[in-house]
Amino acid sequence: MEFRPGQLSLDDLHGPRTLDELREGMADCRGCGLAAGRTNLVFGEGNPRARLMLIGEGPGAEEDRLGRPFVGPAGQLLDKILAAAGISRSEVYIANVVKCRPPGNRVPNREEAAACLHWLRKQFALIAPPLVVILGSTALKNLIDPQASITAWRGRWITRGRVRFMPTYHPAALLRDPSKKRDVWRDFQAVRDAYREIVPLKNE
Ligand code: URA
Repeated sequence: MEFRPGQLSLDDLHGPRTLDELREGMADCRGCGLAAGRTNLVFGEGNPRARLMLIGEGPGAEEDRLGRPFVGPAGQLLDKILAAAGISRSEVYIANVVKCRPPGNRVPNREEAAACLHWLRKQFALIAPPLVVILGSTALKNLIDPQASITAWRGRWITRGRVRFMPTYHPAALLRDPSKKRDVWRDFQAVRDAYREIVPLKNE
């Protein structure tokens, strides 16, 4: 299923007009097998008018328990990276490719991702962020190109319509391999610079 930012479908025009309406619409989602194993659906959270959106893979144990994205160990690292870039978590929007936890934190399969992507597309249409950070391989493959490799694609802006996407390693990959931190920091510096052109610091 192709992800087409900026391109509205009839569904988008007649669908939910706010993130709260969208959240209500998906509360009972049984669109794939992951629904059966969830404690909480993890819709996503943040500023509905965010100029920067971050998209991960799917909820882990802590996210499933709390119903919030990126609140486990990978999320704590993401918070630190954002803080180092001078961007507060409350000003961005954070979501995932799939909204329900895959068992044992496995990678969501193609069918699960395909069944869930329309929710992300609607979130995306409502928020309309000009900048997106793609966190890791699953988000890259599902949003940009199923054949793309995160190692080859990270650190380079991808422009689709009016949206610029920056792929980088997933924070969980940094926890497994801290040598990736240098690359991620470089990627986030590029994101920070692009973001500050759109949202200047108040005292500048
Ligand atoms: N990993 C993800 O991709 N998303 C989360 O919300 C948490 C961990």
